[in-house]
Amino acid sequence: MSAGRGPSRRHDVRDLALADEGVRRIEWADRQMPVLAAIRDRFARERPLRGRRISACLHVTAETANLMRTLYAGGADVVLCASNPLSTQDDVAAALAARYEVPTYAIRGELDDSFYAHIDAAVDHRPQLTLDDGADVIGVLHTHRREQLGDVIAATEQTATGVIRLRAMERDGVLGFPVIAVNEAQTKHLFDNRYGTGQSTLDGVIRATDMLIAGKRVVVAGYGWCGKGVAQRARGMGARVIVCEVDPLRALEAALEGLEVLPMERAAPIGDIFCTATGDRDVIRREHLEQMKDGTLLANSGHSNVEIDLPGLRAISVGAAPAREHVEGFRLADGRRLYLLSDGRLVNLESAEGQPPGVMDMTFANQALSVEYALQHPGSLERRVHGVPAAIDAEIARLKLASMGIEIDRLSELQAQYLDSWDTRR
Ligand code: ADE
Repeated sequence: MSAGRGPSRRHDVRDLALADEGVRRIEWADRQMPVLAAIRDRFARERPLRGRRISACLHVTAETANLMRTLYAGGADVVLCASNPLSTQDDVAAALAARYEVPTYAIRGELDDSFYAHIDAAVDHRPQLTLDDGADVIGVLHTHRREQLGDVIAATEQTATGVIRLRAMERDGVLGFPVIAVNEAQTKHLFDNRYGTGQSTLDGVIRATDMLIAGKRVVVAGYGWCGKGVAQRARGMGARVIVCEVDPLRALEAALEGLEVLPMERAAPIGDIFCTATGDRDVIRREHLEQMKDGTLLANSGHSNVEIDLPGLRAISVGAAPAREHVEGFRLADGRRLYLLSDGRLVNLESAEGQPPGVMDMTFANQALSVEYALQHPGSLERRVHGVPAAIDAEIARLKLASMGIEIDRLSELQAQYLDSWDTRR
């Protein structure tokens, strides 16, 4: 599919006149997404998704647009809504609706009513397959639209936070269809979460504040793949990194990586920049905020805006005012100011452009191939959370390496036998 066709019949976007800009942005990203492009070419030839209704609820970015083009090329009847009200790129949404025939429901900065109405519009499509980043469509199908559960062949879920919710649903025996946990593919979390979140989080903090990172004490809460990436990139820019963790293994990993490990209550008074990446709530609480230095920056890189206690921040403030775009200054009674970035939502998607296309290439290759896989196994996938098949993971790694011009060694027959045998003297 190429740009240049008529607008889709259905959409709700800010302004279709932004479509040209959106096409340029989508094409720029596409140049850095060779694995997805190869899948798109094959899908266009083989049409494995022919006639299937797909509803996607993802961040509406240039990278996502290239995934939508891929599903469309495969023959799917696809619609898209936003998984987050602040990450939508309005030009991309316009291009999808006006040039790529993908009904798109997303407006940057939309309020709750519009946000949820847009998710409903995606569910109105009566999907046979769903793609989520935070389990929102799956949530609606299991609550307000249970009568549609039977239509759904399978779903995919992109984030760690969404997968945690889905595993809880599986445990409680309420999951209505199989879900493929894209986040669990190695070619997803090892790259998107670590290098993608690492780079884009620092990018978000810098674009929002124009602050020098070198010499700052950067406190990273959570040392999962995202936290590791943020810590690594902050250290690379000369920050003194402190890690806060609840998991002893991860804390140990951080310590042996040479990072300082402290509980939040001891990091709070000394940090300059805080970044949460835990997936849980109330990580930075009122008692921590009360101890922070004048000028402290507060950012979140986890899926939801609950990691920093925003009601607590408002409660201890005597005033609040925008300091710059994406930065709100909160004044405490003694005159100190704490600066909240991106309203405590995903700083990398709100203040920057999210993970770069070079890693989203692998994430969305996993999405596209997982959808194809689910259709190739109708009825045989149980109503559980499934990993991405190892063969898909390996194929994506091979394609990515090839696109980078990197060759690797092969095992000789003898080496393969040696690895396969318990009697190593043979
Ligand atoms: N999640 C994180 N970064 C993203 C991006 N660039 N596009 C879509 N989803 C994302």
